[in-house]
Amino acid sequence: MRKHTVQIDSQTCIGCGLCRKDCPTNNIQLENKKAKIIAQDCIMCGHCVAVCPKAAVSMTGFDEPPEEIGKPTVLDPQTLSAAIKTRRSIRQFTKQQVPAEVIAQVIEAGRLTPTGGNAQDVSFIVLKDEMDRFEKLAVKLFRRLLPLMKLVNPAARRTDIDDHFFFKKAPAAIVLVSRNQVNGSLAAANMELMAEACGLGVLYSGFFSMAVNRSRALRKMFQLKRGDKAVMTLVLGYPAVTYRRTVQKDPAAVRQF
Ligand SMILES: Cc1cc2nc3c(=O)[nH]c(=O)nc-3n(C[C@H](O)[C@H](O)[C@H](O)COP(=O)(O)O)c2cc1C
Ligand code: SF4
Ligand code: SF4
Repeated sequence: MRKHTVQIDSQTCIGCGLCRKDCPTNNIQLENKKAKIIAQDCIMCGHCVAVCPKAAVSMTGFDEPPEEIGKPTVLDPQTLSAAIKTRRSIRQFTKQQVPAEVIAQVIEAGRLTPTGGNAQDVSFIVLKDEMDRFEKLAVKLFRRLLPLMKLVNPAARRTDIDDHFFFKKAPAAIVLVSRNQVNGSLAAANMELMAEACGLGVLYSGFFSMAVNRSRALRKMFQLKRGDKAVMTLVLGYPAVTYRRTVQKDPAAVRQF
């Protein structure tokens, strides 16, 4: 994360204490009915900025200003539930290209996803023009590993690693990179939802992510640093398949105490 600081304009502050109450790191105190930041080593979550009724708090070093929130956006639970229920992994794509602005919108959903400790430690590798080159390396690796997999995994015995095993001839993919598996996975889930909202079909490719993590050549080409992981790969394109009904799933395993 870049270096940022939190500032409070004491002229504007009315000493209501809302920022202090909502700060997750106890980093704000009230002195003479004015809020004061204790140190600049907090997690820079911006709750103090977001909650202040007088817009007296600001954070430096960002490319974007905070936006005023009018009426809060509330998702309609039925629509959301239907979207979650009817989405499917897409493995057949049309040849239609994904416009750059749609890719940007999907990445934006990942950028805005929360991260533990506000680490903002997820980055994105967009694959479009050179997908074949990267897929070839991954295919080569998996063809080498397949005999071993066949020994332990019955499904692998029926698997053929064809030339399009990973990307299924899709026009684009985004690899999510992070040191933190959870942060990367949360971003991936929101990006999937956004991609679906933009009319795209998505395949979570755990296999391509695995290939990246195991291939020295791919790690080098993608400039992954030590500790970085390809947490997930979203294969993206317009679906060439229509699903006519939902899929049955087992009941939720719930324990209540
Ligand atoms: C973490 C994760 C990794 C996955 N990796 C792959 C993959 O590498 N290749 C593939 O064909 N499907 C992959 N899938 C898709 C799953 O097989 C699929 O989600 C599951 O069978 C349920 O089908 P649905 O997504 O259509 O509901 C992955 C799914 C998840 C959540
Ligand atoms: S940015 Fe977050 S952690 Fe830092 S002072 Fe504001 S509310 Fe507290
Ligand atoms: S929320 Fe705003 S007005 Fe209230 S104490 Fe904090 S800085 Fe001052």
